[in-house]
Amino acid sequence: MRILRTVPGLRTALKPARRADRTIALVPTMGALHDGHLSLIRAARARADEVVVSLFVNPAQFNDPEDLAKYPRDEERDAQLAEQAGADILFAPPPEIVYPPGFGTEVRVGGPLTETLEGEHRGPEHFHGVTTVVTKLLNMVQPHTAFFGQKDAQQALVIRKLVRDLDMDVQIEIAPTVREPDGLALSSRNAYLPAEERKVAPALFEGLQRGAEVLAGGGDPAEARRAMFPSDPRLDVAYAEPVDPDSLEPLTAALAPGGSARLLVAARLGRTRLIDNMGVTR
Ligand code: PAF
Repeated sequence: MRILRTVPGLRTALKPARRADRTIALVPTMGALHDGHLSLIRAARARADEVVVSLFVNPAQFNDPEDLAKYPRDEERDAQLAEQAGADILFAPPPEIVYPPGFGTEVRVGGPLTETLEGEHRGPEHFHGVTTVVTKLLNMVQPHTAFFGQKDAQQALVIRKLVRDLDMDVQIEIAPTVREPDGLALSSRNAYLPAEERKVAPALFEGLQRGAEVLAGGGDPAEARRAMFPSDPRLDVAYAEPVDPDSLEPLTAALAPGGSARLLVAARLGRTRLIDNMGVTR
């Protein structure tokens, strides 16, 4: 696996693959790789001839400078894991390559998709930061396919809309959330949880299961919403919403047979912010 840091270096490295009509996949990451990322890299390996993993902690998507400063960074470990999972190239540009002096362009997906839920609680700038860097990474790598995790369900929808709205020539694949045996969704932020909080964290998943059961049984959204709230008061819930799986608008009625919804939850546990979601079909 090669580690590259500049756009010309990346383009030169990918030229032979492009000339030979070999397929290229991109797995964008902010590092601190866990099994969720590795499942994306393995899926990319199974799909494409050339697998690029990008590693860039994107300052533009952090609304909290403390969160950015303490974000876990260990490139050596990430490089080893990415290589073992099948990456051919680790693209790890420094911030000044992604945002050079004078950089002044932002790519925004407008509307409720970026303004509700995470957009309301972290600010829509979070998603503007994501769509700007994802556009840049897609332009830099020009992959045939790019892989993202379902764990960030709202981000996945925003990226699909970005690609659709701007006619980008890339296939977006969303891979299922990987969970610990007790249900906690894998996240780079789980590393922040002290042992006592780590024991409490799966309550978020349990709430999603309860909410999904209500909707699958024909219960109404208000009842599902109540069921989603974790009983442990240490989980300070920002939102717990059964929503339309495409628009993310709140569900207003029980699901008709065959109908689908997604349940989304975000909560603070001590100093750590956790998000999770689950799909349900009646
Ligand atoms: O999901 C993430 O890790 C980030 O939001 C992404 C897509 C790599 C953009 O920085």
